[in-house]
Amino acid sequence: MDLTTKYMGLTLRTPLIASASPLNRELATLRALEDHGAGAVVLPSIFEEEILAERREIELRIDELPASGFAEAQTYFPAHTAQSLGPERYLDLVRRARDAIDIPVIASLNGMTRAGWIDYARSLEQAGASAIELNIYFIPADLAMSGRDVEQRYLDILAAVRAAVELPIAVKLSPYFSAMGAMARALAAGGADALVLFNRFYQPDIDTVALRLSLDLELSTPSEIRLSLLWIAILYGRVAASLAATTGVESANDAFKYLLAGADAVMTTSSLLRHGVAHMRSLVEGLSTLLAAREVGSIEQIRGRMSQQNVKDPTQFERANYVRMLQEYEHEPHRRRGGG
Ligand SMILES: Cc1cc2nc3c(=O)[nH]c(=O)nc-3n(C[C@H](O)[C@H](O)[C@H](O)COP(=O)(O)O)c2cc1C
Repeated sequence: MDLTTKYMGLTLRTPLIASASPLNRELATLRALEDHGAGAVVLPSIFEEEILAERREIELRIDELPASGFAEAQTYFPAHTAQSLGPERYLDLVRRARDAIDIPVIASLNGMTRAGWIDYARSLEQAGASAIELNIYFIPADLAMSGRDVEQRYLDILAAVRAAVELPIAVKLSPYFSAMGAMARALAAGGADALVLFNRFYQPDIDTVALRLSLDLELSTPSEIRLSLLWIAILYGRVAASLAATTGVESANDAFKYLLAGADAVMTTSSLLRHGVAHMRSLVEGLSTLLAAREVGSIEQIRGRMSQQNVKDPTQFERANYVRMLQEYEHEPHRRRGGG
């Protein structure tokens, strides 16, 4: 079975990618993921805040040095940064991951402004990352900010990273745009080689007894697949960027759905956290089995088969389907009771 796929110019031997999470911080995990058939790995994010904190610390230390202290600084900083600061260790992780495995190592840069930290992307490139996944995690809680401002912020950050590196860039973005399609096109025009759909926003809950916010992180379930599935199906063949799916992949069948919708690559984190790294093998083998059952020899033959462009009735992805769903629900009372 030919599971190879092209993703933002990289050739992946399988479309399954272990998405960013602390799991991928360990070299042993990265090696195991490669052994189990992952097409690529995304390292956990390095955060804008970590990069800025390091810079501030260095500036403070420069202020402490005597005016003639440059030579002293040469010995002072490297030892300090290598031991204790996030960004240096992250670069080291990129280098070690690069040496440890042959599949692409995608570094994840996570931020929400374009000031003071973007040049770190160049360090990721020099450290040997195969690509950068730019996670723009931004909640526009400033009510004076317009939709246009939010869009521009994404585009400005992308433009700054684009100017800094030659590497392929994937943008992992939020689903909360009023015109997702236009935004996807603008990002592609602004230099995104891939879009990762979607960032899963972690909203706080309220603990009603202690009256405080609870920030526990819940793993995804397959029922959350539909938002990304919808937009991948709509965008397939209509934006000049690769599409990666993230959220809700628990089984090979979920990955298969994303490919049918039009994904070039399919990512998973929750399933690996839940079942262990070896689960990657069951996803890869399960995908081969599903393709074989349909008598197709490669992913190319099924990719996008269920995209909006390729289904018989494209309105199924739009309002007409919503109206139909509501009407059918009324006519099928057994569903209301949760029966089959
Ligand atoms: C424990 C944990 C840590 C994560 N850390 C990151 C991260 O550092 N950067 C990032 O872009 N996404 C991060 N994610 C999000 C995942 O990469 C992924 O997009 C999300 O969990 C949805 O995919 P899933 O349904 O396969 O879990 C994290 C998710 C989990 C569960």
